[in-house]
Amino acid sequence: MSEAQLLATGQPELSLPRHVAIIMDGNGRWAKQRHLPRAAGHRAGVEAVRRVTRAARSLGIEALTLYAFSSENWRRPEDEIGALMGLLRLFIRSDLAEMVRDDVRLRIIGDYSRFAPDLVALLDDALARTAPNTGPILAIALNYGAQDELVTAARRLAQRVRDGAMAVEAIDAEAIEAELETRELPPLDLMIRTSGEQRLSNFLLWQAAYAELLFVDTLWPDYGADDLAAAVAAFGQRQRRYGGL
Ligand code: IPE
Ligand code: IPE
Ligand code: MG
Repeated sequence: MSEAQLLATGQPELSLPRHVAIIMDGNGRWAKQRHLPRAAGHRAGVEAVRRVTRAARSLGIEALTLYAFSSENWRRPEDEIGALMGLLRLFIRSDLAEMVRDDVRLRIIGDYSRFAPDLVALLDDALARTAPNTGPILAIALNYGAQDELVTAARRLAQRVRDGAMAVEAIDAEAIEAELETRELPPLDLMIRTSGEQRLSNFLLWQAAYAELLFVDTLWPDYGADDLAAAVAAFGQRQRRYGGL
């Protein structure tokens, strides 16, 4: 832990989390319950993304990171991957203007260069258009895997050591954090997973070291502003200790 973080732990806890991450899970089960194709669940999931991103803004949360596609989700059938990519296209096209208007800083974590060229171009354009913004951060995890992120960080540091630009002893938690894709985001305070599953599924493993974890049974397409407000209230009741008393 950095000195700044250690000092910060001595401060009274602010009740509002600065950075919330959500593992948006349960779209498939939501659809299954309704005898609908899985893609219909993902479509309803996009509506939940809209509700929750707006709610996060009105609550004053500085950064919201949403797990939309993991580095392991390539294991799904091609048609489902296609449906997810199509929805991502629609979401960017339909919601970019609102993000620009609301001063949202869009960020992407994960290697989206593996996506179709038109989608990569669309995402690059969205990032460029929100780049001048100074407001809340919306980070979308696309082809993201925390283990990949840490491997990349390790390789970059190793390269620097090999080039003689860095001493082995200079590799510390701060040096690793500076290589993570979340380096511009505030520390992760709260990690929420919907749908009753209680695992991290390779999401923000390093960043979750001292995050509060909240697992809720609600399926992602049913999640809304009230649920986020309840999560923030639950966070306010937690006592964070960071190893101290
Ligand atoms: C989460 O819902 C969305 C993505 C992983 C893209 P799922 O598709 O995992 O839904 P379940 O877990 O099968 O219900
Ligand atoms: C995690 O959900 C990934 C996203 C929400 C994008 P999964 O549904 O893919 O996770 P597992 O496979 O149940 O662990
Ligand atoms: Mg799932």
